[in-house]
Amino acid sequence: MKTLVIFTGAGMSAESGVSTFRDAGGLWEQHRIEDVATPEAFRRNPELVMRFYNERRKQLLTVKPNAGHIGLAELEYHFNVQIITQNVDNLHERAGSSNILHLHGELMKARSTGPSAEVYDIQPEKIELNIGDKCPKGYQLRPHIVWFGETVPEFENAIRITEKADILAIIGTSMQVYPAAGLINYAPTGIPIYLIDPNEVNVYAKNVTVIRKGASEGVAELKKFIL
Ligand code: OAD
Repeated sequence: MKTLVIFTGAGMSAESGVSTFRDAGGLWEQHRIEDVATPEAFRRNPELVMRFYNERRKQLLTVKPNAGHIGLAELEYHFNVQIITQNVDNLHERAGSSNILHLHGELMKARSTGPSAEVYDIQPEKIELNIGDKCPKGYQLRPHIVWFGETVPEFENAIRITEKADILAIIGTSMQVYPAAGLINYAPTGIPIYLIDPNEVNVYAKNVTVIRKGASEGVAELKKFIL
């Protein structure tokens, strides 16, 4: 079976009703990154940061995977599908995909601020994470999110997966955030690359086929190319 590596960003979940970050009306137009998505913000105003992620998490309970997520799960009948996502939602999981690496963390997980940084599942019954919520060892819990200025611990694993790709598909990402956007440089030279996005995205690589559509229609079209 060929290995199909799929690299997704916020646009993957847009048709599920999850806001992207950099489109008009996107999250970074309504919130300043420095206020809600950096370690300094968490030190300065942890309540605000917690509230931002509590809102994201509550919204996640109200949305469901779209036809694009489901189409990718179905590709597992034909390929060894490896999903590398920048998204912190769980819509790939809920659509049934098996191999998912979250580069930027997961909304439905909390992490201890203690030295061993254990990760815990957040239950839908207690969806909020607040100041005062502690791990069993007594350390404050924080969102399990990679904030700006923090290292991306899964990046090495993502490189290893990308290096094994026979086909690469990039879906719904503006390719503006590094190191994530640099992953494409680790794909074997010359393999077919498909780029699904309704807007123009600059990708510097050989053999790129642009599918200028939203995720649902775009994944359906991708199938026509690769199946
Ligand atoms: P962006 O908001 O930067 O880009 C979203 C992309 O989705 C754009 O290229 C849009 O054109 C595209 N898009 C919009 N609607 C779409 C649709 N229906 N189908 C497919 N694509 C669509 O989001 P990311 O590239 O994911 O990090 O952003 C990368 C990282 O920056 C995020 O993981 C997040 C953010 O800050 C952290 O929070 C650490």
